[in-house]
Amino acid sequence: MSSTFYVTTPIYYVNDKPHIGHAYTTVLADVLARYHRAAGDDVWFLTGTDEHGQKVQKAAEKNGMTPIQQCDSTVVRFQELWKRLGITNDDFIRTTEDRHKKIVQAILQDLFDRDLIYKAEYKGYYCVACERFFTEKDLLEGNLCPDCQRPVDTIVESNYFFRMSNYQDWLIQYITEHPDFIQPAFRANETLGFLRKPLEDLCISRPKSRLSWGIELPFDRDYVCYVWFDALINYISAIGYGADQARFERYWTSCMHLIGKDILTTHSVYWPTMLRAIGLPMPKTIFAHGWWLTGSRKMSKSLGNVVNPMDMADKYGVDAFRYFLLAAMTPGNDASFTEEDFLQRFNTDLANDLGNLLSRVVKLSIKNFGGTLPTPPPLQPLEMELLSKAALAIKQLENELNSMKLDRGIAAVMNVVREANKFLERTAPWTLAKEGKTDRLAAVLYTAAKTLEIVSGLLFPIMPEKMTLLRRSLGLSEEEIAKTDFASLSEFANGDMRRTMVDMPPLFPRIQIEKPEEAAPAKPEKQKKQEIKAPKTKDVVVPEGMVTIEQFFKTQLRTARVLEAERIEGKTRLLHLKVDLGNGDVRSLVAGIAQQYAPEDVIGKTIVVVANLMPAKIAGFESCGMLLAAKNETSLKLVTVDGGDAEPGLQVG
Ligand code: ME8
Ligand code: MG
Repeated sequence: MSSTFYVTTPIYYVNDKPHIGHAYTTVLADVLARYHRAAGDDVWFLTGTDEHGQKVQKAAEKNGMTPIQQCDSTVVRFQELWKRLGITNDDFIRTTEDRHKKIVQAILQDLFDRDLIYKAEYKGYYCVACERFFTEKDLLEGNLCPDCQRPVDTIVESNYFFRMSNYQDWLIQYITEHPDFIQPAFRANETLGFLRKPLEDLCISRPKSRLSWGIELPFDRDYVCYVWFDALINYISAIGYGADQARFERYWTSCMHLIGKDILTTHSVYWPTMLRAIGLPMPKTIFAHGWWLTGSRKMSKSLGNVVNPMDMADKYGVDAFRYFLLAAMTPGNDASFTEEDFLQRFNTDLANDLGNLLSRVVKLSIKNFGGTLPTPPPLQPLEMELLSKAALAIKQLENELNSMKLDRGIAAVMNVVREANKFLERTAPWTLAKEGKTDRLAAVLYTAAKTLEIVSGLLFPIMPEKMTLLRRSLGLSEEEIAKTDFASLSEFANGDMRRTMVDMPPLFPRIQIEKPEEAAPAKPEKQKKQEIKAPKTKDVVVPEGMVTIEQFFKTQLRTARVLEAERIEGKTRLLHLKVDLGNGDVRSLVAGIAQQYAPEDVIGKTIVVVANLMPAKIAGFESCGMLLAAKNETSLKLVTVDGGDAEPGLQVG
């Protein structure tokens, strides 16, 4: 890890309250910041709110407020949420603050003076929801926004333009020469794809007659600044650009921008060209993560399918929510959010695996040694093996973190927790206790406690409150509790331990999941009809033969790449395939396509697979999933994905 780490989130619009998409980016930034702080790095973590522009002005009108009242009343929703979620941001910038507006105006004036901003007549199409201009060829079906598919407004007016087109060649070269600049790599390719078309100049003004809520152009009082041009500058105004040069230089070039893929172009094209024009170096990394979906659709305020993060934290606890967000999404890919998945993961990972391990170790240690383990005899192979797995998890987490695969790092750590539980089952300390084998008992508990200490250190940035409790229960001092850098944890893996454990209530009490009622005895027709109206489906009766969207999405369709294919002896219709469903999920699958496809025809194809089909044994092979094909009696064609080179693991639907 570098010694300076500046991490930012997008500054969120204050037109509505935050949802779990916003919580995700901010928790991810927080966790990265905490890992870097633990490592002793000089960290600066910035978040904030984007308060100008049409979106906010419209929300204010709708709510019968002035724009600044709208901002003031909504910004606290974000600030309260971040406090509740344990977010350790060092600064919070609001774009309506003077410290920001002054810098935006200074930059505008400078670019204008150097003729990098000019005035011209403009005809364009504007999407209010996205705050973006489009050209005619960008539009879908003649008048729909290519991003959100809402109708756009046609606008003809005089405006100011930033000479973004000057920087096209430079930007292509920069991205090509700095493969880590835009991550994941397929987002860099997406940006380069966008840059294949001529890059146009960027309209950076709005006449006040149309939109008054913005930063006034210093060289023309009839206009305000386009909200994106204003907003992006927050990343430098907040750390002292143009005001506190030393602080700015200390942090800027180590900067990692965390964003969602919805705002890739503004960050990977507008922002670099702006910085270049201002004469500043690029941030280190722009990392675009995927979306949290409800079913197959983006969770968004305007679609009305949002999950409120405050509710999740209140219901299940802040740390469990933070854990879920990070463990259940591979940064870069989309993930679907359901409360069922949350509960499932809570009960298995946290209640069963981690919580259980702690309570076993602490209770047995207290019962047999009053909580203070004696120095154990030399460790035996099983014990050494568990400790070396724990030590290995430190390295794995560190590597996965550096490549932004936090979910995989977490999985490696949780794997050690499961290994530790297995270890206890194999060594059976409760039997050792009964048989009076005190030496062995001490060695076993020592090993499990040490594993827990390492694991809790590794998970500390993700679940700071719960891991504090856990480590206190293991008997660590307040100073030791927070010492969770990878180097100390590795050292500790080889060191000694003498502490007094204390019991505590269950760390993650199991959550009872309400099961649908067992099939009840037959009831009169009338009563049955009423029962179809299950409370959740909002009074919709589903006609026979139809499914609801929720029912449909129970079937998980995912893209998969065929890695290997072979014929099965004696079975003329079947091929045995090895397919990659992304994120390391490689499966064996048997498909009835051998009469239409030779093995070499399907290798490399991206197909569509039912990912959550119950596994079955077919012709002696495991078949985990089913591929989709269009067929009748005489013909069969595989369902493939448009363009053919889609990544594996994408949700289809
Ligand atoms: O775009 N899944 O603000 P915004 C994952 N003000 N992340 C999501 C998400 C989802 N369903 N929905 C939102 C803006 N996000 C501008 C940014 S920056 C100079 C200006 C997260 O309130 C994700 O980080 O629409 C996304 O990029 C951001 O919220 C958009 O927030
Ligand atoms: Mg948005």
